[in-house]
Amino acid sequence: MRRIVLASHNAGKLKEIKAYFAPHGFEILFAADCGCEDVEETGTTFIENAILKARAVAEHVDGSVLADDSGLEVDALGGAPGVYSARYAGEHGNNDSNIDKLLAALKGVPTEKRTARFHAMMVLMKHAQDPAPEIFHGVWEGRILEARQGTGGFGYDPVFFAPEKNVSAAELDLDEKNILSHRGKALQKMLTSLTRND
Ligand code: IMP
Repeated sequence: MRRIVLASHNAGKLKEIKAYFAPHGFEILFAADCGCEDVEETGTTFIENAILKARAVAEHVDGSVLADDSGLEVDALGGAPGVYSARYAGEHGNNDSNIDKLLAALKGVPTEKRTARFHAMMVLMKHAQDPAPEIFHGVWEGRILEARQGTGGFGYDPVFFAPEKNVSAAELDLDEKNILSHRGKALQKMLTSLTRND
């Protein structure tokens, strides 16, 4: 069993990443369980923040650390909320107010102009001084609905329309979401890399 520490305090991400790796013999540990503090995300890109998060946790644990910096890019908003997705409405991780702010910002924008995508930038660092961390990027194309639909998932899932299934991301079960999502696609690339030499 290979162990990887996830440099995140986001329970929604942990659930998806654990479910993805469970059948492949990887144990994913939560950084919160290692007593690591949440690091300040001062970068202006997903990749900068993912590296900051991975390195901060790698300084406190033995073995590989995985960081996932992810977020939503909305075309009609010039790419916002982007790296500020978790704190779009101010308070970090308040999904409800983030969604309210997003729907208000897109009020009156027609369906065809509500295009958006989720990004997941994953960084796998062998140790805190690793000069060549591995990077895996996944993208999920969709659009922003006019109102919430469904109760599953986390974050912006209730307002993210998944064209592949004609439902919102919050109406997909965990396995369905992991096949289509930005995170699932990045994890697929990572799994391929991790198992290449086994
Ligand atoms: P991070 O923890 O700084 O990477 O913040 C990521 C934020 O982007 C989350 O708090 C959510 O608001 C949003 N996000 C990322 N991935 C997803 C997803 O799969 N579904 C819904 N929202 C997501």
